Amino acid sequence: MNPSKFIWKNGELLPWESATVHVMSHALHYGTSIFEGIRCYKTNEGRAIFRLDAHMRRFVESAKMYRIPLKHSQEQLMEGCRQTIDANGLTNAYIRPLSFYGAGSLGVVPGSNVPVETVIIAIEWGAYLGEEGLTQGIDVCVSSWSRTTSSSIPVLAKAGGHYLNAMLIGGEARRNGYVEGISVSDKGTISEGSAENIFLIRDQIIYTPPLGAAILGGITRASIIELAKSLGYEVVEQQLPRELMYVADEIFFTGTAAEVTPVRSVDGIEVGCGSRGPITEKIQSAFFGLFDGTTPDAHRWLDPVPTTTKA
Ligand SMILES: Cc1ncc(COP(=O)(O)O)c(C=O)c1O
Repeated sequence: MNPSKFIWKNGELLPWESATVHVMSHALHYGTSIFEGIRCYKTNEGRAIFRLDAHMRRFVESAKMYRIPLKHSQEQLMEGCRQTIDANGLTNAYIRPLSFYGAGSLGVVPGSNVPVETVIIAIEWGAYLGEEGLTQGIDVCVSSWSRTTSSSIPVLAKAGGHYLNAMLIGGEARRNGYVEGISVSDKGTISEGSAENIFLIRDQIIYTPPLGAAILGGITRASIIELAKSLGYEVVEQQLPRELMYVADEIFFTGTAAEVTPVRSVDGIEVGCGSRGPITEKIQSAFFGLFDGTTPDAHRWLDPVPTTTKA
């Protein structure tokens, strides 16, 4: 972790060290938080946050699904993200907006005496699944833990408590020597990586599980679907049996942290030729091209962050 100088808390920029919580905070006990993960990139026109609007829309919607009353509007939170980047003098950065129930009561159902706190943190953070993985591909496994489904939690919300499931999936994989774990849904169909969506390619067609397959509706996933279509590929969102991964020509993960990371083996079985495949490479270039200007920002996904303060 690279500490930065300031953290936005409830509308104010506080020094990093002062942004603390009480041990009675409800979220510490029960996982009652919602959050986002967003990246800011260096571009030819200055730094820009990728799909800030879509991320903060999902943030507000996560709160809605859990009936957490936010004190700030989507626009105020978007401005908070820009301010946090600017105040810290960051360019290539990871932004973590987080709202949680603070200290007030130990009852499981938070009442009006339990405050909702909101913070926005921005730090420098490199490739989540390793720099080498971006070009070489990573080795992954199917987890023995299945993904929690919408019959018990609103899977489409990005909420703190959901990540206990993700921790089990990713942790088991790492203990067994893999870089990441893939979960299946309660029906045995492919869901996603512990913190990434998944795409499979077979016979030039790109497949990805639909929103109903117990996945987070990834912003990178949605962006890659658009980019792949604009490159002329057919993209099919459908339930996918686990075994399709063993005979796929190519597989890759998408996510804000993981960006576009090729998968070179699943459960020890090589995917295609056992390295990054040609379609994955094209899609990866189209994605990273958004930041170096080689892919036009046709959808206005880049939200510029002008420099207004001296860091
Ligand atoms: C469980 C899970 N799935 C998928 C993703 C990818 O989503 P996004 O592309 O919006 O970062 C993430 C990361 O946020 C995640 O935590």
